[in-house]
Amino acid sequence: MTDNSAAASLASLKQQFDIPGKVAIKTAKGNLPCVHVKTADASAAIYLHGAHVTHYQPVGSSPVLFMSDKSDFAPNKPIRGGVPICFPWFGQGPDDAQNPPHGFARLLPWTLASVDEQPDGSIVVLMTLAASDATRQYWPHDFELSHRVTVGKSLTMSLEMWNKGNDDLAFEEALHTYFVVGDIRKTTITGLEKSSYLSKVEGGRYNSDGKPVTFDKQTDRVYDSADTTVIDDVKLGRKICVHKTQSRSTVVWNPWVEKAQAMPDFGDNEWPGMVCVETANVKSDSVHLPPGGRHVMTATLTAGLR
Ligand code: BG6
Repeated sequence: MTDNSAAASLASLKQQFDIPGKVAIKTAKGNLPCVHVKTADASAAIYLHGAHVTHYQPVGSSPVLFMSDKSDFAPNKPIRGGVPICFPWFGQGPDDAQNPPHGFARLLPWTLASVDEQPDGSIVVLMTLAASDATRQYWPHDFELSHRVTVGKSLTMSLEMWNKGNDDLAFEEALHTYFVVGDIRKTTITGLEKSSYLSKVEGGRYNSDGKPVTFDKQTDRVYDSADTTVIDDVKLGRKICVHKTQSRSTVVWNPWVEKAQAMPDFGDNEWPGMVCVETANVKSDSVHLPPGGRHVMTATLTAGLR
């Protein structure tokens, strides 16, 4: 896109979707268009690149979502932090052969479809991504994704997939949510005590020991769990509840020292201040959809005092 056509497209988005005092569409980092939301209850920022929520802060709390200072903000590159959307596969996919990692949805510009204010003052931002040459080069299916982000006292993200083709299809998905924590070594996660998990670090499947998840090394696990989790953050004195629907996997990740150093778009010393708790359907929980079928997965994040 030329500078002139980018400016015209931004002006058109502003004209259609800005809500004075509450919603402003602006170019942000990397010159990418971003929806800035500010209500009586919360503020948020959502890039159209990847339909990516990079900021959410309810009034009375500090920011809920971690963002790396080293993140890229560029076409065809993922943003490090916030809530990347992984689709139509997670990691290298169910058979470890797919590329790019975590799929293409986080690499492409989405279309802003609507911005609405609800009677309770929350703001709903709807973005879509349809099959195109850019998606067919990776995945030969007709589909439409929509991502509905509701900014209010909680943050609700609702990812809907619609199979628009003539064949059955299967996909993986994740709302790969990066949370700010005061210190990962003083943070626990409850809600996964009864679930088994695959560990990418140790390899293999394990049963939970019945206790909350604690962190003292690189942790990269896919739990079989549809349950609500709570991030209990002793240092910040905060609890964040992650409530989900139509999600049967929960991914828990902290890179720790060496993996942090190996990632070019992540600061060497940022790992103590973050944890990913991802609302997902991956591996054996992949979603299968017949022609015309739809599937909606949601995650609702609510921050409060502990
Ligand atoms: C997590 C995976 O969800 O994402 C990890 O479980 C991975 O294995 C991490 O390292 C980050 O992935 P990426 O592609 O954003 O560097």
